[in-house]
Amino acid sequence: MIQAIRQIEAEAQTALASARNEKDIEAVAIRFLGRKGALTGFLRNIAQLPPEERAAAGKQANEAKKSLEAAVKQAKKNLSGKDRPENDTPIDISLPGRRATPGHTHPISQITQEICSILERMGFSVAEGPEVETDYYNFEALNVPKYHPARDMQDTFYISDNIVLRTQTSPMQIRVMEKQSPPVAVIAPGKVFRCDSDLTHTPMFHQVEGLLVDENVSFADLKGTLTAFVHEMFDSDTSLRFRPSFFPFTEPSAEVDILCVMCRGAGCRVCGQSGWLEILGSGMVHPNVFRSVGYDTARYTGFAFGMGVERIAMLKYGIDDIRKFFNNDMRFLRQF
Ligand code: DAH
Repeated sequence: MIQAIRQIEAEAQTALASARNEKDIEAVAIRFLGRKGALTGFLRNIAQLPPEERAAAGKQANEAKKSLEAAVKQAKKNLSGKDRPENDTPIDISLPGRRATPGHTHPISQITQEICSILERMGFSVAEGPEVETDYYNFEALNVPKYHPARDMQDTFYISDNIVLRTQTSPMQIRVMEKQSPPVAVIAPGKVFRCDSDLTHTPMFHQVEGLLVDENVSFADLKGTLTAFVHEMFDSDTSLRFRPSFFPFTEPSAEVDILCVMCRGAGCRVCGQSGWLEILGSGMVHPNVFRSVGYDTARYTGFAFGMGVERIAMLKYGIDDIRKFFNNDMRFLRQF
């Protein structure tokens, strides 16, 4: 009887040893330990044995059952992690791995950083302010009173009668001057919003504002600063011109054009045959702006400028549609 149990146990161990996967192991467990299994049947029949053999046989059979159960458990444990199901695809460890592509900063962030870094090296410091502005900072304090026709220049998103999404970074001029007395040399990068959308306009875009105030600041300082900036940002031989213009917060005002990067001045579709491309607005700070922050207009003068980041990025990289920056097409963004 003992012999028979040993025999079953040995058979079970052999079967387990050749089991290659979870399914094989389960089959062994059922064959020996299941309801109709060899060991189970044996235990069930113990009652039929002669009384003097029952105790020893029962003990032996129970021990065999326990050790087999432990062996099944162990075999399953050994499988997990190490062996793989036999019909799984084998791993080709000679295949090159998949490279994890690192992310990078958005082209608009890159250009913003480049603009700021050039101006910071000249001595400007960076200030940031709110995108939701009061009418006062966005217009009133910048010499654009209510009902002034110049408000038509910008398609404003109104939150309420007095609250707007800022249409320009110029309100930062006021916020900085309210907190600080001259000398001031500050730039303010950030998002601005206008109700406008086509090939060259998006309802949200980015500007960098600049402001310098001190005694004896002249238009020559404005010209020198912006010329140096353009030569750093584009090429050191980029031609530029200052063209008279109008902004309510500067007098006189000028827009700065660079020679068309596409046709080098010959005239093309991009520059509208003019040979020039506008890249920023600028001028000498209007005395009314100084008055709104309590600066002494007899003592101080200053210049200001504002540029569109997308516009500069488009000219620098030859991009013809501003919306490409915000469509999040990875094929476009990966080029930067
Ligand atoms: N805020 C103007 C705009 O959004 C740009 C500008 C022009 C800013 C002249 C200035 C400036 O500071 O002096 O169109």
